[in-house]
Amino acid sequence: MRTPIVIGNWKLNGTRAMADRLVADIEAVRPELKDIDIGVCPPFVYIPQVVAQVAGAGLGVGAQSCAEYDTGAYTGEVSAEMIRDVGCQYVLVGHSERRTLFGETNEVVGRKTQKALAAGLTPVVCVGETLEERQAGKMNAVVGAQIEAVVAAVGIQAFERVIVAYEPVWAIGTGQTASPEQAQAMHASIRAQLAAYSPAIAESVRIQYGGSIKPGNAAILFAQPDIDGGLIGGASLTAEDFLVICRAA
Ligand code: G3P
Repeated sequence: MRTPIVIGNWKLNGTRAMADRLVADIEAVRPELKDIDIGVCPPFVYIPQVVAQVAGAGLGVGAQSCAEYDTGAYTGEVSAEMIRDVGCQYVLVGHSERRTLFGETNEVVGRKTQKALAAGLTPVVCVGETLEERQAGKMNAVVGAQIEAVVAAVGIQAFERVIVAYEPVWAIGTGQTASPEQAQAMHASIRAQLAAYSPAIAESVRIQYGGSIKPGNAAILFAQPDIDGGLIGGASLTAEDFLVICRAA
C-alpha cells in the first residue's frame, strides 16, 4: 500500500503573512487527515518561517528547486544541503517551468536528483509532455526519456526515496486537467518502465499527478489505481481548496 501524498507548490506567490495564515489553516485540520502525507513548497525565503511554524505538526516542507552544485561561485543558487540544513524534507526537481523557462535538461534534472538524495532530501521528480508532444503521440517517449535520465543518474534502487510527479505541461495552470484515463495511462506506463528494472520498486514508488487539480476533480483523479496523490499549484494557495484536495486523497 502506498501512502498518498499531496504537496502544494506555491511557485512565485505569497508573503510572510500569507504563508503564516495558510500554514496555520492547514495545521488546524491536519490531525483529521489520516493516512496521507502532506507538504508545502514555499518560495525559498519563506522556508525557515514555515519550518518553524510546522514543527511537529505532520506537515512536510520542501523547496521548489535546488542547485546542481554543492557550493561555490554560483550566484543566486541554493544547494540541496542548504535546503536540508534549514529543515526541509522535500525538493521539487525538474518542474516543467524549470525545464522550459530555465533550460533544465534531462541531464540537469538527473544531477539535481542526485544532489537532493545525497543531502537526505526526498526529491519529487517532475515529468510531463507538452501539448505538441501529446498531439504527435510522443508523450510516452518524452516522459520515458525524462524518467530514464533520472534512473541513469541515481540508479533504480534510489527510487525507494524518490517521488515522481506526472504533470502534463498543457494541464499546468490552464484549467484543462488530464482526464482520469489519460493520467492513469501515463502513471501505469511510468510504473511499467520502472518495473523493467525492479518490480518491487515500481510497486512502491509514489507517482503524483499535477496539472489543474481542483476541489472538483481531485477525487476522481486520486481514485485511479496508479495515482498516489497530487502536486498542486494554484489550488494550494487557499487553505480551503487545498484541504478539500487533501481530503480527497
Ligand atoms: O507543480 C504544480 C503544478 O505545476 C500544477 O499547477 O496551478 O495547474 O495546479 P496548477
